Amino acid sequence: MTKHPSEAKNCLKADAISITNRKIVYMKFLLVTYPDSESGHPTKYVRDSIPEIKSYPGDVTTPTPEVISFKPGELLGDETGAFGIKSWLESLGHQVVVTTDKEGPNCVFEKELVDADVVLSQPFYPAYMTAQRFAIAKKLKLCVTVGVGSDNYDLDAANEHKVTVAEVSFSNSRSVAEHIVMTALILVRNFVASHEVAKSGGWNIADCAARSYDLEGMHFGTIAGGRIGLDVLRKLKPFDLHLHYYDKHRLKPEVEEELGLIYHASVDEMLTLLDVLNKRSSMADHALQCDGSPHLRYIPVGPSPVLRGYERNSRSVSQG
Ligand SMILES: NC(=O)c1ccc[n+]([C@@H]2O[C@H](COP(=O)([O-])OP(=O)(O)OC[C@H]3O[C@@H](n4cnc5c(N)ncnc54)[C@H](O)[C@@H]3O)[C@@H](O)[C@H]2O)c1
Repeated sequence: MTKHPSEAKNCLKADAISITNRKIVYMKFLLVTYPDSESGHPTKYVRDSIPEIKSYPGDVTTPTPEVISFKPGELLGDETGAFGIKSWLESLGHQVVVTTDKEGPNCVFEKELVDADVVLSQPFYPAYMTAQRFAIAKKLKLCVTVGVGSDNYDLDAANEHKVTVAEVSFSNSRSVAEHIVMTALILVRNFVASHEVAKSGGWNIADCAARSYDLEGMHFGTIAGGRIGLDVLRKLKPFDLHLHYYDKHRLKPEVEEELGLIYHASVDEMLTLLDVLNKRSSMADHALQCDGSPHLRYIPVGPSPVLRGYERNSRSVSQG
């Protein structure tokens, strides 16, 4: 059970003492975070608490740390937040370097990487680990995505240098699924353009309505029905859509039946039928890259939003 931060502080000391009696290896952790907000790291939040989530779909349990050194709901992805682990690691004697400067040969990240043991970064502000960076990181043992995905690592180079690459599966998959539902509605209903009309003082309904549709009855498809893809399909079920998916691993028949899913054995076959596409598999798989491929030309004329599930070299949302 998670302890209150004040109790957690005492536990950290106790842990550090007991661990030093074992043979502890002190390591250098290199954390890459996005910068604090322009007004500084928040000291007050609009909510006092956030809901406690105890499990993910399929009875997968959430992490159960013995102690945490932050209050749930605090911003942890920025420089000051430092993923909520800086003080804990330091209390155990490890060295922690936090940087936001991660691009180019003279960046802080590349200088500190030379003797780092562990690198942590987030999918939306990734530390790109190229073959050249793996080569200079002589002590590196572990790269962790603080989130989901491995698109920012040269996995062949990681293998060659015997570096483990890990992610925190499910850690924010449900957040992404919520975001996809929101984005699909925003695009199909022409929300942003209509908001701009209202903001500029106009209220010409035709300007807003001409490109605005209902999701109801449309054909929605996802490339990959993993944690995010399946959650999106589940969340969209009440909208009375036709739900399609393509994945190299077919879902269980009872799941397909429960959600009324239409499975496709090929991407091309599915794309010819869709109004809305959600791409939700690793970008590293070249077979599934849609950019510049003939796949997208199949999508019928209309609002046809394409919601993409990868971070690199792409806009997160595009409208065809
Ligand atoms: N949560 C995040 O931090 C975050 C944010 C944005 C995007 N993403 C990206 O979203 C993607 C999906 O995340 P997830 O949590 O659903 O992962 P997941 O591992 O649960 O699902 C991935 C799915 O892709 C399928 N797949 C892989 N290769 C395939 C192929 N060649 N053909 C067909 N299907 C294939 C797998 O079978 C699996 O069902 C990840 O690649 C991640 O980079 C993650």
